[in-house]
Amino acid sequence: MSFHRNVAAMRGRVPLAVAAAVALMLVFLPGADGAPAHPPQAVQTVPKSVVRAADEALPTVTVVATGGTMAGLSDTPTSFQRYRAGTLLMEDMLAEVPNLDEVANVNSLQFGNKGSGGYTIAELYDLSLAVDNALKTSDGVVVTTGTDTMEEIGYFLDLTVQSPKPVVITGAMRPWTVIGSDAQANLFNAIVTAASGKTAWFGTVLMLNDEIHAVRDVTKTSSYRMDTFQTPELGILGYVDDLKVRIMRMPARALRVFETRGSVVTTANALRNWRTPFDLTTIDKAELPRVEIFYNAQEAGGEAIDAWAAAGVEGIVTAGTGAGGISGAASQARNRAVQAGVMFASTTRTGSGSVYGGSGAVFPADSLNAQHARLLLMMALAFNDGVEEVRADFIEWASLQADITSALPSLRTS
Ligand code: SIN
Repeated sequence: MSFHRNVAAMRGRVPLAVAAAVALMLVFLPGADGAPAHPPQAVQTVPKSVVRAADEALPTVTVVATGGTMAGLSDTPTSFQRYRAGTLLMEDMLAEVPNLDEVANVNSLQFGNKGSGGYTIAELYDLSLAVDNALKTSDGVVVTTGTDTMEEIGYFLDLTVQSPKPVVITGAMRPWTVIGSDAQANLFNAIVTAASGKTAWFGTVLMLNDEIHAVRDVTKTSSYRMDTFQTPELGILGYVDDLKVRIMRMPARALRVFETRGSVVTTANALRNWRTPFDLTTIDKAELPRVEIFYNAQEAGGEAIDAWAAAGVEGIVTAGTGAGGISGAASQARNRAVQAGVMFASTTRTGSGSVYGGSGAVFPADSLNAQHARLLLMMALAFNDGVEEVRADFIEWASLQADITSALPSLRTS
């Protein structure tokens, strides 16, 4: 019997929580010290895709599953924080979500099954190509990941996926098998969001807790609360209320589609404004360079920067105080590293606001937080040669803004 038929045979017979609890007792006995157990799974399944017969009236959505708490197996139905992240399979989870057949034809790809922090950059390269590949035959893709590095995985996809079709990243703060889990609702509402088509051209969006965020701007703000994802200063794009996706504003990425500069809005012109230059099919994953983050603090030392430069790290993001300041020792180490060919991006550790200024090999990251700036610097370094080229690409995508006035008659009176 194939994997798919096995799953179908299980539907309606063995509740996932019961099967999961038995599996947990057999395989993952809690540690003798009774310590909280939600470390990422080390084991990763081979990518496995399930494609169903399509109802032509409905959009097709592929769920690309990578694990995390959403796929988490709890010790008991009330152990909200004692669970194994990245354990359940997406096909089994989808079988437990009601009414999906009213929303979309849902296919799945089990890309992996582990905690978000366990993915390498090389694996994110593969994930991005898998998402673009799924979008060749689907109207939208939902990517499920752990929430810990969801903003990073999402922004990696935002920078590299070449299709403007909807990409929605989601996860959960509570494992699938506890009472009051947000996992089922988040999976359902992410599929509803992707199926609606309303976030096409937005780049990757994050849907959690019914709220839709631009992944470029969002950050995880709490280790346990279900409203952990917040977009400082700018706020959410919209929300999902009872099968209705309500979009209240567009991110700059989408608005740029309407920057016509004397031309007309065609798909080709829109794509020219929308696409990043970071097409992963044109480089090898080994070409993605190491970039690290230096977190500044009172009288911080510069030894980490010296060590990274000596280790061959090509880019360093500084999370500075206030408008991006770093200590004297860190600043001297940065000068030495720049002489050695390392490029820097300046961000603020404050949690919101922009960093401007900088010169030469020190680039301002505008409103990107440090973890987002790290991924953009990685891309700018991988796709360019020399400080001027890297700087130009970095600054264009770090300070992404929109000005749609070129598409409309002037309103000036003089
Ligand atoms: C993880 O990021 O994989 C674990 C935590 C979570 O999913 O919320």
